Amino acid sequence: MPVLAPSPPAVLRALGLLPLFALVGLASACGGKAGDGADGADGADGADGGDAGSVSYYADIQPMLGQHCVRCHSDGGLGPADFTDPDVVQALAPAMRAAIDEGRMPPAAADPSCQDYVGSEALTMPQAERDLFGLWVDGGLVMGDPSEAPAVEPVARELKNPDLVLTLQAPYTPAFADSENPGNEYRCFVLDPEEFGGKYITAMAPTIDAETIVHHAVLFTVDRGSLDDRYLGDSGWDCINGRGGDSTDGMLGAWAPGMLPIEFPEGTGMELPADKLLVLQMHYFYNGAAADGVSDQSGYAFNFVDSVTKPVIMAPLGSYSFTIPAGDPDHTHTESFENTYVPLNVLGIFPHMHKLGRRFDARLIHSDGSETCLVSGDYDFDNQMTYQFKEPVEFAIGDEVRFECNWDNSEGDSAVGFGERTDQEMCYFFTLVSP
Ligand code: HEC
Repeated sequence: MPVLAPSPPAVLRALGLLPLFALVGLASACGGKAGDGADGADGADGADGGDAGSVSYYADIQPMLGQHCVRCHSDGGLGPADFTDPDVVQALAPAMRAAIDEGRMPPAAADPSCQDYVGSEALTMPQAERDLFGLWVDGGLVMGDPSEAPAVEPVARELKNPDLVLTLQAPYTPAFADSENPGNEYRCFVLDPEEFGGKYITAMAPTIDAETIVHHAVLFTVDRGSLDDRYLGDSGWDCINGRGGDSTDGMLGAWAPGMLPIEFPEGTGMELPADKLLVLQMHYFYNGAAADGVSDQSGYAFNFVDSVTKPVIMAPLGSYSFTIPAGDPDHTHTESFENTYVPLNVLGIFPHMHKLGRRFDARLIHSDGSETCLVSGDYDFDNQMTYQFKEPVEFAIGDEVRFECNWDNSEGDSAVGFGERTDQEMCYFFTLVSP
């Protein structure tokens, strides 16, 4: 049995976390790994058992948590508990192990072995590192020596010298009043780029204010004339369904914790037309008492230039023609589209479905039959992101892009088709391309 010191309930009570961890954490702590083994999740059993004793907190676990967990699980972060505190990590180790082994944590992100993207090192966790945590638990939670801790260089998550930072006009305090989505609120706010309209965005990243409650954010454009007074006030509007104004063709990008700033290659940039306003859709999340009464004034930061040699376009690659049958737990829709226009570079991709979305996959089929994977992974509506490729991918004339969406409608008693509302579905890959 793993050694638990200090006893988990005491630590959890101290942290005010008992309700959240009670089921998952303590259940797995008591069950231990020698128990019934019903879920068979102990990947580290057997083979490397001999290494267990050599894994230590300072040398191995602290840096691993720093890479994959601490951006959410630290003081004032989105996730519960502070994983920078070694006592907390020891106490919660069985729950953390279960979350890692069962694939719940870190939250789903695209597979970098399909196409590598900026920030993949932090957003995904290789199996060897997952196993390491189990080995540490099995080895008796050895702490080791603080001097063994490797030096970790901090990663810049915000733009260094932005030309423009637009924030919500006033702090907003979510009410979390949507009974259909308990603990979640989707709120939209207008940001006016004013004299920057007509320039080209060369880099962008959100400025997150209240990390405790900001789960993810989506940025899009709408026509200036299309929003009436209901939308223009300081406190935004509830927008899980209607976003107001026009639709998906104005998507600029989606961000989730861990994603690094989007930076376009030298000489390229995305036009922000002068007749557009920006709308920032914030997904707020209630993770317990720490979120009570917290207000947020997040925003977005940009760098601009007046002109570019190669404009970047957010091309909406998507499908309207699918029907997900009632009760179907595993429905896949595949479509393809041939490039008959101009040779393009694909710089990044933002997969988008609604709540039934489970998996996405997009790849290029070249005219010689070979394939280049663009993006592939498990989908989570509450954790959408734009994946910016480390290297642009060539989409030549005659190449085909084949994209696939997979949904789970097992709970649904009616068929679901395309639509903007969250009880309808989408299958989109917003694709950053430049000629
Ligand atoms: C992007 C933010 C984020 C990252 C990164 C993250 N977590 Fe979480 N975690 C959350 C949030 C939010 C919750 C509470 C809601 C939930 O369960 O999704 C949570 C809940 C948990 C829970 C309790 C619920 C459960 O599913 O067992 C554990 C344990 C946990 N995280 C461990 C980890 C570990 C270990 C890592 C790193 C390997 C990690 N988390 C990385 C956001 C994150």
